Amino acid sequence: MKIIIVNGPNLNLLGKRENDIYGDETFNDFFETLQSKFKNVELEHYQSNIEGELIDKLQEVGYTYDGIILNAAAYTHTSVGIGDTVKAISTPVVEVHISNTFSREKFRHKSYISANAKGIILGFGLQSYELALMSFLSK
Ligand code: DQA
Repeated sequence: MKIIIVNGPNLNLLGKRENDIYGDETFNDFFETLQSKFKNVELEHYQSNIEGELIDKLQEVGYTYDGIILNAAAYTHTSVGIGDTVKAISTPVVEVHISNTFSREKFRHKSYISANAKGIILGFGLQSYELALMSFLSK
């Protein structure tokens, strides 16, 4: 089983970014723990701050991998392009957010990803990624 976590802008700053919302752990530390917990999964991680690079990565993996866990971060709320890619590819995408975007500003309530996602998990901190991963394993 081959799964990739694709993270969008500013998620490289986890651990030092708005800790009250996003927690204290770096994504790399979290990812190492996740990999060691799920040794039977070929788990990869890709992060970019650039919209087109995220689209390129989704296109690259989107016909061969078993699952994509996508946190498009701020692009969730703005990117028709990423939304179109999620619709175009055949690999199922689970949309993930660390925070509960519905309890935050109104502009975070809109998602261009959700309509074409297999499912959505948000508000559980970094555990949202683990829950998304488990959803692929239990099908
Ligand atoms: C986020 C929520 C987005 O609104 C925000 O722009 C992010 C992170 C989350 O994981 O909670 O950068 O996707």
